[in-house]
Amino acid sequence: MAPAEAPASGAPLDPALFAEGPARDSRFQVKDRWVECANFPVDHPLRLVEFLHRQMNEEVNSLESSAKSVADFPSADWSLRMWLARQCADEARHANMFRRLFERRGGRVGEYPVLNFQYRIITRSDTLIGRLAIQNRSFEAGGIDAIAFSLADPACRSDAELTALYEAQLADEIIHVRFANDWIISETKRDPRSVLAIGRALTTASRAFAHVMGTEGTEGGTYPVATAARLESGFSRDEIKLASDLAVAGRPAS
Ligand SMILES: [Fe+2]
Ligand SMILES: [Fe+2]
Repeated sequence: MAPAEAPASGAPLDPALFAEGPARDSRFQVKDRWVECANFPVDHPLRLVEFLHRQMNEEVNSLESSAKSVADFPSADWSLRMWLARQCADEARHANMFRRLFERRGGRVGEYPVLNFQYRIITRSDTLIGRLAIQNRSFEAGGIDAIAFSLADPACRSDAELTALYEAQLADEIIHVRFANDWIISETKRDPRSVLAIGRALTTASRAFAHVMGTEGTEGGTYPVATAARLESGFSRDEIKLASDLAVAGRPAS
């Protein structure tokens, strides 16, 4: 998701853009902004282990967001609720995968600060179609790009455990984006006004994302668009081209 604007570092988060955060036990240090996290440089020995911890918590955010959608929209299509319930199971498995690898590499849960911006941005939307557009079609589609990029990196391929984790995760994330895309397409055909709800949700989410990330968190630009995985996820070729153009525009000139 491209940031719409980035307020000055240290500015308070706008409560109009964020729902309440999810509960965390006393082991966790929950922060509001990317800059408050442990952001190690690329070649730092703790960079990967810190990422595994952060991602573990983000998988829990995704689980909590899908569970909240099941709870908040009891009259939604049964098949969609089943997909969301399956997503909950998948995200719980992902959180455990990241935790196992994190602990195997010497980490202790709660050792690094975490962000709950995903849950707070997604559940701020009061429509199911808005939440799916933010969570599955934006955050998770961006996650697909990031995983595919990592899997093409020789440094990642030389780490068999990490490669296996990413391959298993990627297969599930494609399905999560796919069911959301399929439902959004059918819903916007049934009720064309729902496109407006998507637009409203994404505009608010984009502003909120900029508040969390600031200029510091988006300095590296975005990952290249994973064309094959996005096609499998139900995006059209035109949508993929647009995402690709935006990703290139968001990347610093080399
Ligand atoms: Fe996941
Ligand atoms: Fe997912």
